[in-house]
Amino acid sequence: MGEEKLNVPVCQKKGELAPFAGALAPSSDTVNDLICRELIAEAKKMMARAYNPYSGFQVGAALLTAGKKIYTGCNIENAAYSPTLCAERTAFFKAVSEGEREFTAIAIIGGRKGLVTDYTPPCGVCRQVMMEFCNPKKFYIILARSEEDYWLYRLDELLPMGFSPKNLER
Ligand code: THU
Repeated sequence: MGEEKLNVPVCQKKGELAPFAGALAPSSDTVNDLICRELIAEAKKMMARAYNPYSGFQVGAALLTAGKKIYTGCNIENAAYSPTLCAERTAFFKAVSEGEREFTAIAIIGGRKGLVTDYTPPCGVCRQVMMEFCNPKKFYIILARSEEDYWLYRLDELLPMGFSPKNLER
């Protein structure tokens, strides 16, 4: 579609290399550019809510459900360090605790002291939480530096051969 071509993320327009192989173009078959931008805008707002006295790193996430609701999250740190919750899991746990079980995509954006200089890939624990609730071939992860500058991945690209609830049935 012409409109989608015009709105292709700037990183792709400039011919920049993706931070990791397997990046997809936004389209109506995956999630379109408009949805990606909306999720990124919501995720960006959440950076300001980060509770991050130990790392100074602010992360925001916005999770889209199959029913097109958006749940947001920020990172929440802890003096004992290990109880720290990433922005992605905050968003997932908010949504799951409200009864949501089906998800389409998540946008993630972060940076030190709120300054976004690079993409923020989800940590391994967050990828595993995504694996619990999402079909890895149908769940999309948007790594963003801004609404115009992002890369789109599928969960199975970022967590190949992940362990899922299905493995317990075999
Ligand atoms: N963090 C996230 O919230 N999401 C990520 O994808 C990576 C890391 C948080 C955890 C911690 O509060 C801070 O960033 C530094 O690791």
